[in-house]
Amino acid sequence: MSEEIRVLIEEEPLISRVKEVAEQINREYEGREIYLICILKGSVYFTCELSKYITVPVKLAFMSVSSYGDGMTSSGAVAIDKDIDLDVKGKHVIVVEDIIDTGRTLCYLLRMMAKRGPASLKLCTLLDKPSRRISDIQVDYVGFEVPDTFVVGFGLDYAQKYRNLPYIGELVFKEEQ
Ligand code: IMP
Ligand code: MG
Repeated sequence: MSEEIRVLIEEEPLISRVKEVAEQINREYEGREIYLICILKGSVYFTCELSKYITVPVKLAFMSVSSYGDGMTSSGAVAIDKDIDLDVKGKHVIVVEDIIDTGRTLCYLLRMMAKRGPASLKLCTLLDKPSRRISDIQVDYVGFEVPDTFVVGFGLDYAQKYRNLPYIGELVFKEEQ
């Protein structure tokens, strides 16, 4: 089997939409400081791009979680490999994700983050696959809704590959000729 990438969201509309999401956040958090929690590694590109257009005071923190699965889906069992180095108690927190699929990973993460006593807790994702949702979670900011296909690029990987693509592509498997 060989892999092929079909462009789903070009770089230009992708960046424009990230700017729009940042502007929405700026309006809603006017006069407040926000803590952006980037979930490694997938949301690194999105978090960095988003933060460039945030005009309210912002602090960045990074967290690494493993959600066990078969490489293309998550199982819901989540482990924290690296925790954030900031105390979020009394702070306005936005968790930034690359994609929400079943929602299991985020459901776990949000519950854990809520226990730390932030003043507010919201969720921002670049991509959303609502058709696949299992966990009932509220997503506050969405870049794009995508169909139920496996997507890569702009941080998203398949077996750690393709994160560096500047666009979002659909991964297609092809039989070798
Ligand atoms: P969930 O727990 O099912 O919502 O899974 C979310 C995680 O699965 C994301 O943070 C990604 O790491 C991964 N994932 C889900 N769908 C895709 C996809 O289409 N491409 C790349 N990674 C994906
Ligand atoms: Mg992820």
